[in-house]
Amino acid sequence: MRLGVDVFQRKPRTQAQPGPASLAARLAIRRATPDDAAALQRACWPEWPEVAVHEFLERLNTSAARGRGYPAAALFEGAAVGFGQLTLWRDAAEIGDLIVAPAWRSQGVGTAIIAHLLDKARAWGLTRVEIGAAMSNPRALALYRRLGFAPQRVIDIQLNGGAPEPVMYLAMPLKS
Ligand SMILES: CC(C)(COP(=O)(O)OP(=O)(O)OC[C@H]1O[C@@H](n2cnc3c(N)ncnc32)[C@H](O)[C@@H]1OP(=O)(O)O)[C@@H](O)C(=O)NCCC(=O)NCCS
Repeated sequence: MRLGVDVFQRKPRTQAQPGPASLAARLAIRRATPDDAAALQRACWPEWPEVAVHEFLERLNTSAARGRGYPAAALFEGAAVGFGQLTLWRDAAEIGDLIVAPAWRSQGVGTAIIAHLLDKARAWGLTRVEIGAAMSNPRALALYRRLGFAPQRVIDIQLNGGAPEPVMYLAMPLKS
């Protein structure tokens, strides 16, 4: 239950960070390239070596060039604040690797990245997109349900090299 409290009042914001309405309007979301590796590594994956982020983005851009996916970076005034990608499997399209830099969470960045990737999926004529989240990640699951993704199935997947854990897949039908 929300109790009528503005979610954006829950987290103190630094002076550098604007409120959600102005933030969404000033956010740029575009294809992520290997040139974004350093900025994305610092913002989103500080635990990865930069070279690994560079290789990851190279791989995704090779897939994108073949029409098999689309990696997206979210930037605020030129600074990287989030990432997500659309992957086209043989029989499904999936939004994955969604991440927002910790200081920028709960301000609509994740929602904006998902909306951008859904627009891309519609432009490609896709009729359905899936998204998955570990059952141990209720915040992400709540966000996806709030955006209209409906639960489909739970399967055990090995995430980040750990032991297999239950992951829920949700899907959204798309109208072009
Ligand atoms: C999951 C994740 C990507 C969501 O990104 P985000 O930018 O925080 O998402 P949003 O701000 O769009 O939405 C999240 C919250 O803001 C609220 N919100 C966003 N925009 C809003 C708006 N315009 N009005 C009111 N509420 C809003 C949502 O209700 C939600 O509430 P919560 O704080 O209780 O979760 C981010 O938390 C993250 O990077 N987590 C770590 C990595 C991860 O778990 N990735 C997902 C793997 S499946």
